[in-house]
Amino acid sequence: MELKIFKDYSDLSASAAMQIVNCVKSKPTAVLCFATGDTPKLAYQKVGEIAKQHNVDFSKCFFIGLDEWLGIPPANTGSCHYFLHHYLFAPLGINSSQVHLFDAMTVNEEVECDKMNRLIEEKAGIDLMLVGVGVNGHIGFNEPGADISSGAHIAQLEEITKSVGQKYFNEEVVINKGMTLGLKQVMNARTLIMMANGKKKAPVVSRVLNENISTDFPASLLRQHNHSLLMVDEEAASELEK
Ligand code: PGA
Repeated sequence: MELKIFKDYSDLSASAAMQIVNCVKSKPTAVLCFATGDTPKLAYQKVGEIAKQHNVDFSKCFFIGLDEWLGIPPANTGSCHYFLHHYLFAPLGINSSQVHLFDAMTVNEEVECDKMNRLIEEKAGIDLMLVGVGVNGHIGFNEPGADISSGAHIAQLEEITKSVGQKYFNEEVVINKGMTLGLKQVMNARTLIMMANGKKKAPVVSRVLNENISTDFPASLLRQHNHSLLMVDEEAASELEK
């Protein structure tokens, strides 16, 4: 695992955006899987501009959803669907045929997860996955104690995830469960990037680097991935030893 520390959120985001653009530049048919949330928002906003500057075409790549709040419709501005369309797919002109996200309104969760697992296999895996990190160390909705061998599944959310998650919604919602790719799929991504910014993520970043590697703190698994990158700003790095 490589650690990169940036002066501030803007520099961090520009570099993450560059990683995305470079991936598609070297493999135009890349399979990409991106987290939603406050952390990667600015990076996604910068992707379009950087892609244009470097003349990189996103029309042949494919996007896989990392997670979604179960029961939250795609039109809800707090859904992962809405976020990805708004900040990434629409500005980049991504066609709906290039995207597969979890259907959070499905009547058959198992079929929905099977569909996702099969698609990832058909696509021969994920080239680049970019994730944030929850204050409890979750990756996607792989909460502490998640199964390391899991594929796409429905996860019971921890109280902290439910309460922090309210920040994405305009009004209070009931969010008990999430649909998520599993840790096996996270660890199988050919490149795995984790981003964190701000003072409130400093204790989490310290744990990512210092905690025993275990699913008790899923983000620690990043250190076991053979092509992973932890990208943080100085505030998020402020509890690391020099
Ligand atoms: P955030 O969420 O980017 O909004 O902090 C991170 C996460 O919960 O994975």
